[in-house]
Amino acid sequence: MARSVVLITGCSSGIGLHLALRLASHPSQSFKVYATLRDLEDQGPLWEAAQAQGCPSGSLETLQLDVRDSESIRAARARVAEGRVDVLVCNAGRGMMGPLEAYEDHAVGSVLDVNVAGTVRVLQAFLPDMKRRRSGRVLVTGSMGGLMGERPAERVQLAGGGVFLTALHDPQPALRYYTTERFLPLLRLRFDDPSGGRYLAAMRRVVFQEESAEDPDDAPPAEPPAAGLGAP
Ligand SMILES: NC(=O)c1ccc[n+]([C@@H]2O[C@H](COP(=O)([O-])OP(=O)(O)OC[C@H]3O[C@@H](n4cnc5c(N)ncnc54)[C@H](OP(=O)(O)O)[C@@H]3O)[C@@H](O)[C@H]2O)c1
Repeated sequence: MARSVVLITGCSSGIGLHLALRLASHPSQSFKVYATLRDLEDQGPLWEAAQAQGCPSGSLETLQLDVRDSESIRAARARVAEGRVDVLVCNAGRGMMGPLEAYEDHAVGSVLDVNVAGTVRVLQAFLPDMKRRRSGRVLVTGSMGGLMGERPAERVQLAGGGVFLTALHDPQPALRYYTTERFLPLLRLRFDDPSGGRYLAAMRRVVFQEESAEDPDDAPPAEPPAAGLGAP
């Protein structure tokens, strides 16, 4: 059976790196992974981890791809030996933390250029072929922060490998349904309890114990957040 060709952006660290390893070392050996990096000089940790995990030869390749540069995206696409990408993972992104008034002038524009315009550039490069073939899957790493205005607990990230594998095979856009159905009901708690304590308690139950979030009123009262900012 032909392997699924997966191209992932932003593989120098974090989710991109670990997803690339997870797929390249998958026991089914059903994935060929193109792990792309903005700067190939940063590919050392990926290859060290690939060696440690015993990724089979030919399961993983690295390509240079900077999502801010359309030419670099086109060049990466041209180097996909199979001539097609079955699964495109738009993962490259930059975070922005801290109080708004502390951001430097270019900070917001630069985040939008990578996270939003960069994702669009990558989609523009790969979608036409998927449409022509009437086949393909696109996964975009976003943030629950976009829905909740709140950072998820780190454990969500640690669970990420399994979540991606599920999304990769799911007939529907699973993560969107998951976040909408499970987390949006919790929003009400943010208004009902301005301290944020009940919201955090309910969120903790959902994230760590996989309990239903459908009735947020079930959430037990919680200690107010230590930092006073509501961060988990
Ligand atoms: N971890 C979380 O809990 C979390 C939560 C919400 C959203 N996310 C999103 O998930 C994605 C991955 O996050 P992460 O936690 O794994 O962060 P990370 O370790 O910082 O990884 C981000 C990756 O994006 C790459 N990148 C940045 N600018 C790029 C560009 N112009 N072109 C190509 N690649 C670029 C980085 O490469 P360089 O090393 O070269 O900069 C890095 O490989 C991001 O889109 C992030 O916004 C993560």
